[in-house]
Amino acid sequence: MANQNAIVLLLAFVILLTDVATTVQGDSTKKTLVKYKHGKKYCDQGWECQGWSIYCCNLTITDYFQTYQFENLFSMRNSPVAHAVGFWDYHSFIAAASIFEPQGFGTTGKNKTFQMMEIAAFLGHVGSKTSCGYGVATGGPLAWGLCYNHEMSPSQTYCDDYYKLTYPCTPGAEYYGRGAIPIYWNYNYGAAGEALKVNLLDHPEYIEQNATLAFQAAMWRWMNPIKKSQPSAHDIFVGNWKPTKNDTMEKRVPGFGSTMNVLYGDSVCGQGDVDAMNNIVSHYLYYLDLLGVGREQAGPHEFLTCGEQVPFNPSSKSASS
Ligand SMILES: *[C@@H]1O[C@H](CO)[C@@H](O)[C@H](O)[C@H]1NC(C)=O
Ligand SMILES: *[C@@H]1O[C@H](CO)[C@@H](O)[C@H](O)[C@H]1NC(C)=O
Ligand SMILES: *[C@@H]1O[C@H](CO)[C@@H](O)[C@H](O)[C@H]1NC(C)=O
Ligand SMILES: *[C@@H]1O[C@H](CO)[C@@H](O)[C@H](O)[C@H]1NC(C)=O
Repeated sequence: MANQNAIVLLLAFVILLTDVATTVQGDSTKKTLVKYKHGKKYCDQGWECQGWSIYCCNLTITDYFQTYQFENLFSMRNSPVAHAVGFWDYHSFIAAASIFEPQGFGTTGKNKTFQMMEIAAFLGHVGSKTSCGYGVATGGPLAWGLCYNHEMSPSQTYCDDYYKLTYPCTPGAEYYGRGAIPIYWNYNYGAAGEALKVNLLDHPEYIEQNATLAFQAAMWRWMNPIKKSQPSAHDIFVGNWKPTKNDTMEKRVPGFGSTMNVLYGDSVCGQGDVDAMNNIVSHYLYYLDLLGVGREQAGPHEFLTCGEQVPFNPSSKSASS
């Protein structure tokens, strides 16, 4: 009996060996496990990019985006006048990203520059939506991203009764804007909570108490379409989205501009050269510069902006406002 077990174990080991080859990539502390299935390469890089994904074969975010870069991008967030002092940090960002990297967040693309650009784009949205750098502020208006972690004076509780069967509002809970790309409304909290396996419908406040969760909710929004018929911001940015004839006719082209369109619709896009749009674009370009990618990589105006685009989401409540 013991012998038989040993043979089965040995067999399993041999199968494992032929299927999995271990290579060490980059710094020697990080092991990339590689296997091939139907001619496709899948990898597992441990905690940061786990679970046999094609995307885990590429550089992960910590390979090209480190603490000092996070500190550079959000240099004023812990200044005494900021509104979420001590809340946001690099560690939370990376911990949050680890569940999305196997899906391609920051791990898609032909080269490192392109991967960095997605992080700059995502953080451009984050920085703009959480900034308190309006007017003249120390360090310039773009240095104040991650100044907030929630809406300061909500005018309502953002409970939409239309969703009372799927995402009923919990008595006493308020669904005002919270997080890194703030989410609003019971149905957005409900959907995000479902995806992240956290009961946000009963406890929307978790998002302003936990920076990892606050980043995760934003990444979830970036990685998933708001409506089934629409692409995610991620798919638009990395080029997975192929515009239809209608999209092309309505000037929705792949690029940063359309990520604003799909996330905010007509509150930002289709209105010409407005501040709401320019502020997001400025954060993105500023971060490209700080990361050493350079704003010239962002491409021409018609891809970068959405002032001339017809909104994806006219007159509907989008994830953020
Ligand atoms: C990973 O990077 C390689 C180049 O290093 C690229 O060819 C490939 O498309 C990337 N994979 C994914 C899934 O983005
Ligand atoms: C990386 O990819 C981007 C986007 O496709 C491209 O513009 C850039 O020239 C590439 N950079 C290098 C160093 O290959
Ligand atoms: C914060 O949220 C993350 C992600 O859901 C979770 O893993 C972690 O335990 C939370 N931290 C605390 C202190 O609750
Ligand atoms: C394209 O646009 C027209 C006019 O707005 C609309 O009637 C049609 O349903 C759209 N087609 C698709 C596939 O979205």
